[in-house]
Amino acid sequence: MLASKRIILGVTGGIAVYKAVDLASRLKKEGAEVRVIMTEAAAAFVQPLTFRAISGNPVHLHRFEEPRVWNVEHIGLAENADLIIVAPATANILACMALGRAPDLLSTVLLAARGPILVAPAMNTAMYMHPATQEHLALLRARGVAVAGPEEGDLACGSAGAGRMSEPADIVAAARSLLERGGRLAGRRALVTAGGTRERIDPVRYIGNFSSGKMGYAVAGALAAAGAAVTLVSAPAALSVPPGVRRVEVESALQMREAVLADFAGSDIVVMAAAVADYRPVEPAAQKIKKQGGDITLTLTENPDILAELGRRKQNRVLVAFAAETERGRERAEAKLRRKNADFIVLNDVTRPGAGFGTDTNIVAFLYPEGQAREFPLMSKQEVAERITEEIIRLFYKGERK
Ligand code: CTP
Repeated sequence: MLASKRIILGVTGGIAVYKAVDLASRLKKEGAEVRVIMTEAAAAFVQPLTFRAISGNPVHLHRFEEPRVWNVEHIGLAENADLIIVAPATANILACMALGRAPDLLSTVLLAARGPILVAPAMNTAMYMHPATQEHLALLRARGVAVAGPEEGDLACGSAGAGRMSEPADIVAAARSLLERGGRLAGRRALVTAGGTRERIDPVRYIGNFSSGKMGYAVAGALAAAGAAVTLVSAPAALSVPPGVRRVEVESALQMREAVLADFAGSDIVVMAAAVADYRPVEPAAQKIKKQGGDITLTLTENPDILAELGRRKQNRVLVAFAAETERGRERAEAKLRRKNADFIVLNDVTRPGAGFGTDTNIVAFLYPEGQAREFPLMSKQEVAERITEEIIRLFYKGERK
């Protein structure tokens, strides 16, 4: 998997630099072409010569050291790399990446990079747990940056806790799986829906639900990271568009249906993560409804089932459904899966802590038409999105669907 891949290894300052030497050597043994960029702080721990000897390539240190090479080529290097690994990644480089700052060569290359990036954080526990670092990592994950570790253990500063860099073998494994995924969906088109639809009652009111859109946005980002051209049909959500994703904004179920059908013919993959309202007011009032005293009655009419409609015209597309249930989840989700003719359904029991609407984590199970189920532990929505993407890739290339 890593043979002849062009990998940039960014090394930042910290005691874990010594493990980066081992990492460079493992990457090289797997046949990768390794280019090392060190920050000045990293060079205070290990001589650049060490990395030069292991990688067989000159080590890049300062931005303006060799302007002949760098001023033109650092952008080229960033664009041509198959993968950039930052290991160890200090709190400082994560902050630079999150904020788009480019004070040195490594951060400049990271800002210019368009391909996959894997970071292996290593720092003192307090720095790792600091809200700034956690927010930066969450931001980077949301942008599709893969994060390996850190692990818990004894740290160089004498304390114990989370902050130790992942083992080089684990970082190599993460790199392998990232490259395997990356590009697997190149040339494929994916259609993802997200958010909760709003059904107008009058010009100032609507019927809505608690969906935040986070799960669908994460899926759109993960599919795009795997190379697919992604259209995200989104009901109102306070989220930024993942890189490489085209967003179409809609409000109601009827608008969502229209936008989805407009894109369906050209799509290979459809993921219906949106919480689509089952009912809408028959006729939204043209003017704001005034208080009249006593009860009022709102007559609702059923919305079309978008996914069921797509399921009937599925052909060889991969179709993924979601089910958010509060009771008898498995049984209900299985019935939905059949009714909608999806390839699998992602079930989450929204009553469990850490799962469902608005949270950053989820507890899901994948259910299949043949009756099998795969249950997962509590994971971030980002990780769930990656599992869904891996599953889509597997189904996509299974059998004759090529
Ligand atoms: N869905 C859809 N169109 C609808 C309702 C739901 O495409 N009008 C999709 C959702 O995006 C989701 C799946 O169908 O992927 C299941 O949605 P859910 O609301 O749980 O199912 P319903 O069919 O509405 O079933 P029920 O009302 O019995 O829960």
